[in-house]
Amino acid sequence: MKKDIELAANALLAQMTLEEKVEAMSGTYPFWSGLADILSGGYNRHTWDAGQLERLGIEGIRFTDGPRGIVIDETTTFPVSMARGATWDVQLEERIGKAMGLEARAVGANLFGGVCINLLRHPAWGRAQETYGEDSFHVGQFGVALTIGAQQHVMACVKHFALNSMENARFSIDIKASPRVLHEVYLAHFKRTIDAGVACVMSAYNSVNGQWAGHSSELLTDILKTRWKFHGFVVTDWIFGMRDAKQAALGGQDLEMPFRIHFDQNLLKLVKNHEVPISRIDDAVLRMLRMQLQHKKNITVRKSFLANTDHTALAREAAEKSIVLLKNTHQLLPLATSTKLAVIGRLANEINTGDGGSSNTKSKYVITPLEGIAAAFANVEYDDGSSFESAQSIAKKADTVILVVGYTKADEGEFVSPESTSGLRSLFPLPKTPQEGAIAQAVAEGLAARAAESGAFSKGGDRNRLDLLPQDEALIKAVSSVNKNVVVVIMAGSAVLMNTWQASVSSIVMLWYPGMEGGHALANVLSGTVNPSGKLPFSIATSKDHYPFFDRDATSIEYDLWHGYRKLERDNHPAAYPFGFGLSYTTYKYHHLMLENSSHSLNISLEVRNVGTQDGEEIVQIYVAALGSKVERAKKELKAFTRVFVPAGQSKLVQLEVLHTDLMYFDETQDNFILENLEYEVIAAKHSADPEALRAKIRVGAVA
Ligand code: BGC
Repeated sequence: MKKDIELAANALLAQMTLEEKVEAMSGTYPFWSGLADILSGGYNRHTWDAGQLERLGIEGIRFTDGPRGIVIDETTTFPVSMARGATWDVQLEERIGKAMGLEARAVGANLFGGVCINLLRHPAWGRAQETYGEDSFHVGQFGVALTIGAQQHVMACVKHFALNSMENARFSIDIKASPRVLHEVYLAHFKRTIDAGVACVMSAYNSVNGQWAGHSSELLTDILKTRWKFHGFVVTDWIFGMRDAKQAALGGQDLEMPFRIHFDQNLLKLVKNHEVPISRIDDAVLRMLRMQLQHKKNITVRKSFLANTDHTALAREAAEKSIVLLKNTHQLLPLATSTKLAVIGRLANEINTGDGGSSNTKSKYVITPLEGIAAAFANVEYDDGSSFESAQSIAKKADTVILVVGYTKADEGEFVSPESTSGLRSLFPLPKTPQEGAIAQAVAEGLAARAAESGAFSKGGDRNRLDLLPQDEALIKAVSSVNKNVVVVIMAGSAVLMNTWQASVSSIVMLWYPGMEGGHALANVLSGTVNPSGKLPFSIATSKDHYPFFDRDATSIEYDLWHGYRKLERDNHPAAYPFGFGLSYTTYKYHHLMLENSSHSLNISLEVRNVGTQDGEEIVQIYVAALGSKVERAKKELKAFTRVFVPAGQSKLVQLEVLHTDLMYFDETQDNFILENLEYEVIAAKHSADPEALRAKIRVGAVA
């Protein structure tokens, strides 16, 4: 921490009264009018503020959300985080972070809530699309990149701390995890963002080992602030993230957002009664002041930065790099732009940028798949697929069919329902004035009406299936029975099981929710203007039974070390499409894997040859196996990766580093990470199940 900032923050704190300090620990808005505002679109109209104190020139906190773009005004809609995870391009993610940070400032914010890095434990998680994947190392690298980029302009907030990997039950579920599971699997990526200097951490709604995450002294104080030495501040997840002022304050919560509820009503009393020490209040406020001063910017950013051409170009680059080619029989793709195309499916012609709720963005335009294809190909006919007959009739006449299927925000995404929050509404402050009473009444009626209208708010939420919707599967069957050149394009935020239909189509393309430029990106990949390079940031299993247990209505669940490729490999269940997998229009060969051990890391080099005829970008993955470990460990784990451009017919030398600290496991008896003195096998691979992977062994951890 810089000394001058620390001195200045302490000087401000010293001038604040106790009342002012306590006031700084809640959002600015009274509960009932704030709720009416948020429910009527305020969320996307203005920043959500806290802690402004004119008397001392303290500007306070002004929050806006992400992660696929800034949610206020007409901003750039990027591909969702999961798509960006599929780029494996952390430099690109840093540039995206910078663009989002700039747009956040242009809408008047100084805190960006879009660094969502909860781990994808199970593909049914409704908000899977808001994070980057199933692997802690990979997710952590992306969280760091987005943080570093965004913090060039604003404070970044990483969320949701911790173990928030289920949606429908997020307000009530208790997640049990042993210290090893916590530190090694579910917290390690958060730690990386702390080490990278993230300003703010948002606690989760759920409880962890019997303590609400927003009150958890284990998570917020012992781990985050003490063990990890986090100097920034903790903020609650919105409205329902705190249930008791005393427990939250003592647990290490610094800021209740966005309304004045528990802290506002109780904190002053608790301090005066010596139930919460004044030192805790000072600590919370100092944390916020310190971060505000460290990230203070004096120049205002003009609105013309919103979705400017640099940013929309970045959105297109991200979409292009995120597209994963899963199957391409007989090299059906790429297609000449003169190919006679039938584009089929309702999603081809819809704006489909991701889930509803807190991450919803509004952009000036969104290029749909159909618009993108129609702009690039000369001969395109469209049918929405609602009638199989008419879909088949255009499919029959076409050379190739592009069939766009998948999900929308109705099928997966953020979820709030009257049921899931009913138990929590007793925590709302009682309306004190007739006006507040009227608002309370209107809110209650509004919720009931919306619930009735939408089937109890069942929009979004955890998915109830891992395969495609039955009508999509039937459409694939109908179309592929009349044309053998079918390219299935999938829009979704995580894994889709494809067993029942994948053999009947030539090509499969994972498009994700690809942002405002997604249609152009798709067309560029279909035409070969862009060589596909994205790789899956999760495993697609052959059966839903190969994933860990998932019950979206569970009230408690135990998380263990096993999910994703680690679990599939342990259980000897080959994936349908493994973690890290993605095809290209060219072929790469790896050679000459070399290892060297230094005092703190393994230095790895290899040669990547492009033996095909197209230039391309390859994602090289380094997995490490701890051979003969004394504890149960995954067969191998991702420890480094990089993206490299290799022109056709040429080779590139690739150099990567694996830190010794990343080879450690968490030893519960020592309450710490331990580096075992072992032979480690280093595996340089195109994906986690690459039969051609290069392997070499090296001893690490020997006492010198
Ligand atoms: C979401 C958070 C979000 C917050 C503020 C909550 O419901 O879980 O991800 O940042 O709202 O919008």
